[in-house]
Amino acid sequence: MRVPDDEIQGAVGDYLALNRASWDERVPLHVASGFYAVDRFVAGEEHLHGFEINELGDLSGKRIAHLQCHLGMDTLSLARHGAQVTGLDFSPPAIAEARALASSCGMGARFVVANVYDAVEALGETYDVVYTGKGALCWIPDLRAWANVVAALLVPGGALYLSEFHPFLQMLTYETLEFEYPYFNDQAEVWDDGSDYADPDAKLANERSVEWPHPVSEVICSIIDAGLRIEYFHEWREVSFARFSFMEQVGPRLYRMPAGKPDLPLMYSIRASKPT
Ligand SMILES: C[S@@+](CC[C@H](N)C(=O)[O-])C[C@H]1O[C@@H](n2cnc3c(N)ncnc32)[C@H](O)[C@@H]1O
Repeated sequence: MRVPDDEIQGAVGDYLALNRASWDERVPLHVASGFYAVDRFVAGEEHLHGFEINELGDLSGKRIAHLQCHLGMDTLSLARHGAQVTGLDFSPPAIAEARALASSCGMGARFVVANVYDAVEALGETYDVVYTGKGALCWIPDLRAWANVVAALLVPGGALYLSEFHPFLQMLTYETLEFEYPYFNDQAEVWDDGSDYADPDAKLANERSVEWPHPVSEVICSIIDAGLRIEYFHEWREVSFARFSFMEQVGPRLYRMPAGKPDLPLMYSIRASKPT
């Protein structure tokens, strides 16, 4: 449920604490969930989408920072493709699980607890690729500050690869595909919602969260204004979770609209390079 307008400013003031409490509480639920399927991942299951693997290209020997890495599954997948990886997330339990997962997989990876805005100082090094997305940007209030962090983390010639849920998707009601939420919203969206996308039985105690549904133009202009050169912007008919119950599964953790339903953009990907 969206909170009333007179509660939004107070929640925005506390957004880091509110969002961190929510994410910390989700970590053990996600580790136990079929959605994340940690056991299958340890056994070798791919966690990146096919389009991400194709677009990322050859990762052998690449140094990659994964911002907002959650349990580290995408981070470690990048390592399985040959990269030297560092994951960053502001949730201490998420980073503890990411380290445990790396150990279970017998893989080397660096995981750091920090706010994404503090990533330059917290990581203290630069990278060939900054990878992020799949539910990352909606937690960031100021995308221009975020893009400056990304640019500072890249070596000259390095690239941001962003693979994110399309904001168009967030406008729709869950089952009836009606427009309920605005595309353009000048203030945060604050929710009181104890449910969790990975665990249908969840009832979170920390149910308040604060999000910013950034229009695509804001994402693109923030990246350009940080001095990066956009190489491509792609929109996708697939998404990582069954946002609507009638979606059809077309791959591991990949769903699309069935025939007869509107053909909507569900994700997008951007590659943007730092000039040499
Ligand atoms: C939806 S998850 C990302 C999921 C990830 N792409 C995956 O597939 O596992 C969002 C992550 O952002 C992290 N996060 C939210 N706000 C953050 C911030 N300000 N700084 C760092 N991490 C943050 C949360 O702890 C959470 O792990």
